[in-house]
Amino acid sequence: MSVRRLAPQEVQPEGFAFTAENLDWARKTIEKYPPGRQASAVIPLLMRAQEQAGGWVSEPAMRYVGEMLDMAPIRVYEIATFYTQFQLQPVGRKAHIQVCGTTPCMLKGAEDLIKVCKKHIHPEPFHLSADGDLSWEEVECAGACVNAPMVQVVKDVYEDLTPEDLEAIIEAYARGEKPAPGPRNGRRSSEPITGLRVLTSPDLYDGSMVGQGAGLAAAREAIAARAAGNAQPKPPEPAPVAAPPPPPKSDPAPAKPPVAEAVKAAGDADSEKVPDSFKPEVLTAARDGKPDDLTLIWGVGEKLEQVLHGLGIYHFAQIAGWTEENLKWVDQNLEGFRGRASRDKWIEQAAKLATGWRPSDPDGEKPN
Ligand code: FES
Repeated sequence: MSVRRLAPQEVQPEGFAFTAENLDWARKTIEKYPPGRQASAVIPLLMRAQEQAGGWVSEPAMRYVGEMLDMAPIRVYEIATFYTQFQLQPVGRKAHIQVCGTTPCMLKGAEDLIKVCKKHIHPEPFHLSADGDLSWEEVECAGACVNAPMVQVVKDVYEDLTPEDLEAIIEAYARGEKPAPGPRNGRRSSEPITGLRVLTSPDLYDGSMVGQGAGLAAAREAIAARAAGNAQPKPPEPAPVAAPPPPPKSDPAPAKPPVAEAVKAAGDADSEKVPDSFKPEVLTAARDGKPDDLTLIWGVGEKLEQVLHGLGIYHFAQIAGWTEENLKWVDQNLEGFRGRASRDKWIEQAAKLATGWRPSDPDGEKPN
């Protein structure tokens, strides 16, 4: 992003005033805003001033707009120097080409477009061509990335460009013409260049599928009939995926508690002061140095597992043996995770895991 400063004093005009037509438009524009909010019209007024002045907004024009809106000049300078749609120095009389140089356009050939500008307009941005008709600059993303690379000329965008396309556009502007904006590679807008591949059925657009009743059923039949008539070869059926083994029937997985209960449990755990006599039996280290994988408990991640280890809890059997009082103590001492043990029914989960049962997919199914 280039530094944006006002043009030097020697190129600034003596003054600025809207034409009668633009003055009338400006007054009507200001009236659109509620009393006290007229400053909101600053951008449209600056744009109109820029259009009137041949594509750039001078310091006198900024002051003029500020006076109309009862704004301090510095407030208008701030806006004009921030938004890159405002040109702060004279630009080409016929066109100022803004070449997007942000990543998608750069990857699609913006550098070649810049070379064209350097060759046909001026080696440096913001400099006028020899006849003063054209100028160019590199800008940040103009929001047309799907049609990269692209250039913008005032309010028109030219997309999907090759260097040759841009040469033709520049030549047209130099002749005083205004080429038609839009993509240059045959696209109408930003549809896939390879043509439409989904939502291609005409029934989608003839109104027959509106609603959920007979119209929809009839449309489906029509589509099926057309498909049968076209006798398109059916794609191969995907291979059946083996279903995961069901959990043991004799030991059904505990249901997840309703949210309200869980929230209440968490709230209770926070509000009650649980005495230390409720503390469960804990260990100074895992038995045989081999802690159970506590992350198999639904809701326990690596961070929470570390918290449990810090409390002396390493094994499913420990958790499975907790009383309700133990549960309350643990809930209150789970720093950052209070209430999680009762909310996620750790005792029931741990009891099941302590039997040796394991979910078939440790990343998916958990014993809740
Ligand atoms: S990157 Fe060029 S228009 Fe977005």
